[in-house]
Amino acid sequence: MEKIVILTGAGISAESGLGTFRDEGRLWSQHRIEDVATPEGFARDPALVQGFYNARRIQAANAQPNPAHQALTRLQRNWPGDVVIVTQNVDSLHEAGGAKNVLHMHGTLAGALCAACDHRWVAPPEMSVGESCPACAAPSARPDVVWFGEMPYHMETIYDHLSEAAIFASIGTSGQVYPAAAFVHEAANAGARTVELNLEPSDGASSFETVILGPASETVPRWVDDLLGQQ
Ligand code: OAD
Repeated sequence: MEKIVILTGAGISAESGLGTFRDEGRLWSQHRIEDVATPEGFARDPALVQGFYNARRIQAANAQPNPAHQALTRLQRNWPGDVVIVTQNVDSLHEAGGAKNVLHMHGTLAGALCAACDHRWVAPPEMSVGESCPACAAPSARPDVVWFGEMPYHMETIYDHLSEAAIFASIGTSGQVYPAAAFVHEAANAGARTVELNLEPSDGASSFETVILGPASETVPRWVDDLLGQQ
């Protein structure tokens, strides 16, 4: 059975109303990465960082999955082989749309992490500065998101899946952040057919066999219909 590995980025959630990082009105033009997405930024100004992720957590909790998330769930349910979703997104819209076993390589807003002992628990809607860890009581609660300079999650599992992929699709990601940007090469080396679905060609578009341009809410359902129709 052919395995499909799908990498998603902020573009798949854009039509659910969640801002991307590098487009018009982008998050990274309103905030400096060094301030809100690094361990050093958190040590310098935890209130700024908790405030940034609290706002994103509330926004994400109020967002609904769009037809692109729903189409990937349909693919997972109807494809005869494994369909693995690896997301760089910290929202839970794949799961809200019914997807299973989503690998959140950059963590999730729904989680809290103790910076002292690595214990994880469900984040409250708003996290405050100096909140204590339920396991070790250190006042070290932080969002369970991966910051620049930290190791993304699930990497061994992801590389195993990539080495077995028959089809690799990258959806709504600019291809500017590694290691995710290099997954296409891993998959291609393993013999996978590769396809990018994005609003515009990403930085790595030339590495894909096929590039499908347009809003994810339109291109992804069509691509899924095509795949399911070919069976
Ligand atoms: P980016 O903001 O870098 O890229 C979003 C991509 O989605 C762009 O290439 C857009 O053209 C595309 N896009 C926008 N709207 C779309 C739509 N409606 N349909 C299809 N595509 C659309 O976001 P990511 O690539 O996800 O990491 O960013 C990767 C990582 O950089 C993030 O996970 C985050 C960030 O810094 C961390 O914070 C560790």
